[in-house]
Amino acid sequence: MRLLYLLAVLSVSLYSCADRPESMEDLTARVFNLAESQYSYLADQLDESRFPRSLNPDGTLSTSDIDWWCSGFFAGSLWYIYEYGRSDSTKALADRFTLALEPLVDRPVDHDIGFQIESSFGNALRLTSDSTRYESVIVDAAVKLAERFNPVAGVTRSWDKKKKYDWEFPVIIDNMMNLELLMNAARLFGDDELREVARTHAYTTMKNHFRPDYSTWHLVDYSIEDGSVRRKQTHQGFSDDSMWARGEAWALYGYTMMAEWDGNDDFLEQARHIADLLLERLPEDGIPYWDFDCPGDLRDASAAAIMASAFTRLHTLTKDVRYRDMAEKQLRKLASPEYLAEKGGLHGFLLKHCVGNYPKKSEVDVPLSYADYYFLEALLRFNPQAE
Ligand code: GLY
Repeated sequence: MRLLYLLAVLSVSLYSCADRPESMEDLTARVFNLAESQYSYLADQLDESRFPRSLNPDGTLSTSDIDWWCSGFFAGSLWYIYEYGRSDSTKALADRFTLALEPLVDRPVDHDIGFQIESSFGNALRLTSDSTRYESVIVDAAVKLAERFNPVAGVTRSWDKKKKYDWEFPVIIDNMMNLELLMNAARLFGDDELREVARTHAYTTMKNHFRPDYSTWHLVDYSIEDGSVRRKQTHQGFSDDSMWARGEAWALYGYTMMAEWDGNDDFLEQARHIADLLLERLPEDGIPYWDFDCPGDLRDASAAAIMASAFTRLHTLTKDVRYRDMAEKQLRKLASPEYLAEKGGLHGFLLKHCVGNYPKKSEVDVPLSYADYYFLEALLRFNPQAE
């Protein structure tokens, strides 16, 4: 009788263990363990003049030089892996690939200097407080970015003249992300001008980039002469009127980040409107199609990772549990075998199924360095005790 009772208790507890979802702490530990070995494998395939970008159509590793807009994300992901695991060898790698970006501040740049420097040097300084090593690059880069500000239009320019396009002063929604470099430098050096450039850019973008439902155009072109809007269009989305998933993710992240740095209710309200539209339109599993209005079933894990990080941050600001629930759903899906690499796979990247530039048929259904970066960031934010 006693034996039967023990067997019954054992089978009930085995059943409930198998049935219980993995805790977010365990999921985070599992992903960071994988990330540590994947990223050291990736580093073994590189020297400091090349940075991992994606996979080529033939499955080989695709890398970039330091000028590509994503060159900072490898160092940034290494910093996040160091933040979780505190391994000295990861820290040394992160430092090496961060300092490799230093020449950027001595050459012509576009708005992506924000992505490049904030993900690498910004995280380096945050985690080490080594101002002698990292601070001057942050301020030099922020000053370069602020030089792209046009006070008449009230925005910083994204790209310089491109022969192929008839733009005068193009600004893409992605540029909201680069404001974090300005806000960080403004805090470090007590520079109100940098902060004002960032705030003005965010206000002008709020006025001109959004449709009434809070979906965003990808690109707004301004007149250099009087700052008026010349055109609103897409560049990487399905059509001018569609909702490109990564653009919407940048918008959500950009306004959430500005609300956090600036404590401004207008930015917070904008972030909530964007978030609520996403809650309404995201598919059941939380992973967006690469463009919400494109027929087909191609997902973009990079947009999901950026959103998960932003939703988590927005939950911290608002305490609205719907945002945290969505972030959890997205992170669980991304950490499942459907999206997450196996150890030793994908040349060391973490996430599958991202879309870089569909209209150009470039980087479609592949890993991307920034997807990994925002995925790791989102997990650290979701589990602040892990930081
Ligand atoms: N232009 C940056 C992106 O592809 O999102």
